[in-house]
Order: sequence, then C-alpha cells, then structure tokens
Amino acid sequence: MTSSTPPDLALQSLCSPLTPHRATEFETPVKLGVLASGSGSNFEAIAQAIAQQHLSARVEVLIYNNPQAKVAVRSQQYDIPAKLLNHRDYASREGLDRAIVDVLRSYNVELVVMAGWMRVVTPVLLDAFPNRVLNIHPSLLPSFKGIRAVEQAIAAGVKITGCTAHWVVPEVDSGEILVQAAVPVLADDTPDSLHARIQVQEHRAIVTAIALATAQIRGVWTPS
Ligand code: GAR
Repeated sequence: MTSSTPPDLALQSLCSPLTPHRATEFETPVKLGVLASGSGSNFEAIAQAIAQQHLSARVEVLIYNNPQAKVAVRSQQYDIPAKLLNHRDYASREGLDRAIVDVLRSYNVELVVMAGWMRVVTPVLLDAFPNRVLNIHPSLLPSFKGIRAVEQAIAAGVKITGCTAHWVVPEVDSGEILVQAAVPVLADDTPDSLHARIQVQEHRAIVTAIALATAQIRGVWTPS
C-alpha cells in the first residue's frame, strides 16, 4: 500500500539525512547498477554502507567509461563485477547508452546510480529505466548545474553550497530532488578543499537517496 508517510528508515533519513541507519526496511535488497567515471569515492560509500548493513542493496554491476578510472580498483576490493564501456568506442551518446542498457538488463538492475558519471545520458537510458536513475551532483541544485560546479560556486561568491541527490531527467541536473546537504564555503577554500568537504556529505546523501528511492520503487513511500 502506498503511504504519504515515509517508512521508519526513510523518516529517519529525512529528519536526519546525514545519519546512517540500519537496513531493516526492505527484505529484498534493491539491485543496483552504478555508473562512475573517476575516483569512485561515492561508489565506495555505497559499497561500505551495504557491507555495514546500513543499506539494503546489492551492487550487481559497476559500469565505468574511463580505462584509468580508480573506481575499477575499488570494485575489485568489494568483489563487484565491473564493465568498462569506453565512450570513445561509440559514435554517439545513444550508442554508449544502448550498451549500458544491455549490461544493466543482463544483471537485472532495478535502480541505476550515477555516482560521478561524467557523461550526459540520453532518453535511450532514461526510457529503459523510467524514474529509476539517480545522480549525485556537487552543488545545491538548481544552482550551479553542469560541469565544474564547485568552481562555479567559488566564482559566484556564495557562502553556502553543498550536494544534491536527484532523479535524472533528460535536462541536465534538473530532476526531482531527493536529498540535499549544505556545506559552508570558507574564505580560503580552493576548489579541491571545498570539493573534499562536499564529498563527505555526498557519501551520506547518496546512501540516503538510494534508501528513499527504494522506498518509492517498492511503493511504501511517496514524497508529499
Ligand atoms: C562527485 O563529487 C560527484 O558529485 C561529481 O563527481 C564526483 C565524483 O567523485 N559529479 C558530477 O560533477 C556530475 N555532474 P567520486 O568519483 O569520488 O565519487
């Protein structure tokens, strides 16, 4: 039955979005496919939350697009299958997304998480997984969409920025927001120092967003 009241796990997440919780809400772990391009600290936050039973999920497959991406090493450490789909091997964004969809379907993925995926996705992916694709972005959306969001925040002179976990729609960084966390901008911040503090919050926000998204998918919670 659908309820406008979040289940305990999600309620805890909403009231204290940065506090880890126990993964008691869902008997069947949600099957995740993670897309990542770089270091993979968000991928590791998801894998750790699962290992520590803070999140009822399984990462069925990691897809990465850059042969040098450190995220591939992290996936080995967690024994998670990893598939390299190098975007340079595809003539179009749609071609890459078709290959992504094939891999995700072959692993019966229920929820797709863009955890530092630096490619614009197309309706080929979004139509195959309607309302099933999440993204984490290093700003308080709708501010500072697109690339170099941390640099954009510093250049704009804002005193507070942060991160946003949201559903993905065709327009970049524009889908419904699930979780946000604020981070102060310090006077002596560089893009690297600020990004490092934002990432601490991302690692919590992405786990909470997966829990909330799962509650929505399972029909036990609808956002009011
Ligand atoms: C994260 O900060 C994420 O928000 C950002 O890439 C970083 C990946 O870090 N994503 C975007 O900018 C997407 N627009 P990670 O590889 O350590 O998880």
